[in-house]
Amino acid sequence: MRVRIVEVGPRDGLQNEKQRISTEVKIELIRRLAAAGVDTIEAGSFVSPKWVPQMADTNEVLAALDLHGNINYPVLTPNQYGFEQALAAEVKEVAVFAAASESFSQKNINCSISESLDRFSPIMHSAQQAGIRVRGYVSCVVGCPYEGEIAPSQVAQVAQRLLDMGCYEISLGDTIGSGNPANVARMLDAVLDHVPADKLAGHFHDTYGMAIANIYTAYQMGVRVFDSSIAGLGGCPYAKGASGNVATEDVVWLFQGLGVETGIDLTRLLDATAFISQALERAPASKVSQALLAKRNTQ
Ligand code: HMG
Ligand code: MG
Repeated sequence: MRVRIVEVGPRDGLQNEKQRISTEVKIELIRRLAAAGVDTIEAGSFVSPKWVPQMADTNEVLAALDLHGNINYPVLTPNQYGFEQALAAEVKEVAVFAAASESFSQKNINCSISESLDRFSPIMHSAQQAGIRVRGYVSCVVGCPYEGEIAPSQVAQVAQRLLDMGCYEISLGDTIGSGNPANVARMLDAVLDHVPADKLAGHFHDTYGMAIANIYTAYQMGVRVFDSSIAGLGGCPYAKGASGNVATEDVVWLFQGLGVETGIDLTRLLDATAFISQALERAPASKVSQALLAKRNTQ
């Protein structure tokens, strides 16, 4: 039994940080994550630097990485302009991001859901020609900061559109962390009628501490890919009050306990946790990290 973990800390985690984080810190964080065995690390976004200033050095970060080795470093591309930058940087994978909520789509990428899907079409075409894989995100799969509850059928519709366009995997984003095992199961039931489990990933923010329960629910329903963020970093600049993604350490701990392989060495992962926590001058949000680091410090 195995799950794949997609580390989104250097992108989803850091995009929301108000303090300036140097390119060197980002690169060192990614290096430590890779050393712990993480094989997919979202390294940044080619989005407007006016909208998300923290991601403005994505090119510099990518230039320091071995993009032709075994580790995959995807980046977010909201439009053709962003995709061309990703192409020039020679990444192997990009992610497009849509939402199941109209209001969130407007706030996040300044267009409607349908306009966003239209913008992704040329990206899909260019990516196919260049041999670049495209992952699709759907945000607000349970709740929206502007509209409240989101109908599962709306999520299923957008997820299916992304799959039909050629995304190899659809990551379902609980952007504001309002999911719980009951509403996540209802949402997944609807999505699974249209998209098979082996094309899905779970992306749970941990605002109310439900992310691990939601991951376990999704795992039991057949999902085998989960996004997570080292130390539980992050949030979304366009979802006020939303906290970080579920911590990678917590996800690895969960699956270790279940006897499910992640390929990640938790002891080495803690080196990444300790590094970024020190750089940001705050303790990790992850309880697993807090417990293990405290134990390590007394040994
Ligand atoms: P816009 O203003 O509608 O775009 O923004 P535009 O095409 O009208 O262009 C306006 C200006 O932006 C122009 O520059 C363009 O060149 C520039 P100016 O002439 O004013 O100097 N521009 C760009 N610059 C760099 N890279 C680009 C790009 N495109 C245009 N790709 C846009 C539309 C999508 C660009 C904007 O809304 C944007 O950048 N949004 C960022 C959204 C974002 O990054 N959100 C966070 C990530 S999503 C997320 O966190 C959720 C997720 O984790 C899942 C979950 O949790 O749910 C994935
Ligand atoms: Mg997110």
